[in-house]
Amino acid sequence: RVVAASAALVEKGNHRHFMVKEIYEQPDACQHTLTAYVDPVTGHVSAPGGFDFASVTRLQIIACGTAFYAGLIARYLFERLAGLPCDVEIASEFRYREPAVTPGTLAIAVSQSGETADTLAALRWCQAKGLKTAAIVNAHESTMAREAGMLWPTHAGPEIGVASTKAFTSQVTALTALAVAAAAQRGRIDAEEEKRLVRVLLEAPRLVGESLGVEEMVQALSLEISKARDVLYLGRGAMSALAYEGALKLKEISYIHAEGYAAGELKHGPIALVDEATPIIVIAPTDELFEKTVSNMSEVLARGGRVILITDEAGAAHAPAGVSVIIAPTCDPLIAPLVFAAPIQLLAYHVAVQKGADVDQPRNLAKSVTVE
Ligand code: AGP
Repeated sequence: RVVAASAALVEKGNHRHFMVKEIYEQPDACQHTLTAYVDPVTGHVSAPGGFDFASVTRLQIIACGTAFYAGLIARYLFERLAGLPCDVEIASEFRYREPAVTPGTLAIAVSQSGETADTLAALRWCQAKGLKTAAIVNAHESTMAREAGMLWPTHAGPEIGVASTKAFTSQVTALTALAVAAAAQRGRIDAEEEKRLVRVLLEAPRLVGESLGVEEMVQALSLEISKARDVLYLGRGAMSALAYEGALKLKEISYIHAEGYAAGELKHGPIALVDEATPIIVIAPTDELFEKTVSNMSEVLARGGRVILITDEAGAAHAPAGVSVIIAPTCDPLIAPLVFAAPIQLLAYHVAVQKGADVDQPRNLAKSVTVE
């Protein structure tokens, strides 16, 4: 037992849990994943195996849980950058609803384990319909890796914590690179813009590393959040997907009820939840949607809500009085989902630690859901 314990300790490095070790491994995971998609010498980005997106009429991303939220982020990128219609759906719904299939659709399964039953079944359904398929997986020998038409790997390394962290940011890294490749291949961006976006991509590992610097700010807020009964996460655009992911992280390891909402939805119901006991986590880099999100924040504050704003330096200067601010590195919108991931992961982690929860093995959860 002593040997096993010490081996685990060695595996955890000097971290208390696998989850926080894996949060800190994200700069490397992002870097290693990028090497499969970006040629740093030519500045060219492409899908492994050289798939050409010019032949694709629409994308169908299928995944579960955190991987599904990575897919939601990808939709903003594929549609805006590459002009590619992109549907994203949880695999357990997709596989049973007889979706209408459009010829020329590329189905992309996203999965850390490559063994998730619903995602595998959805992938097989797409293959049976004659769709081209790809799998973005971290386990390169998994069933999905073997069965998909194309293997588009993430290189996060083994992820032990049940809560997905470095696998998620590696999935977003791969999907972001693929969206840039699709934009270039479909003639939506010229060679100069492709090179600029690749330079932005190559900056991601460093900025993801810098984003870990929020840990102290996050830890200071974690005791207060740990006492909440409900927590609301808000975001716009790709940050709405990060709001869903932040809520999932919190609920699955701290067992606090949390919901993620597109900030524009606040007035359509969730604002009824707002009282002084419900922390509202607003995820808002200073992009084109920032002002809109700030006005959502003011609506919450006017009703006595407690707001924690995750933003960048410029956003912090606009934070209304009474709002606690967590400052993430300033970055290009292309990689904001990567740079704003660690703050929500670390928040969930430290709240769970405050609650004495079993962070690496939360109750009722398995690392890979290989049964329905
Ligand atoms: C995320 O923190 C969860 N552990 C869970 O939602 C996970 O993302 C989901 O089960 C999908 O797993 P996969 O990526 O291995 O397919």
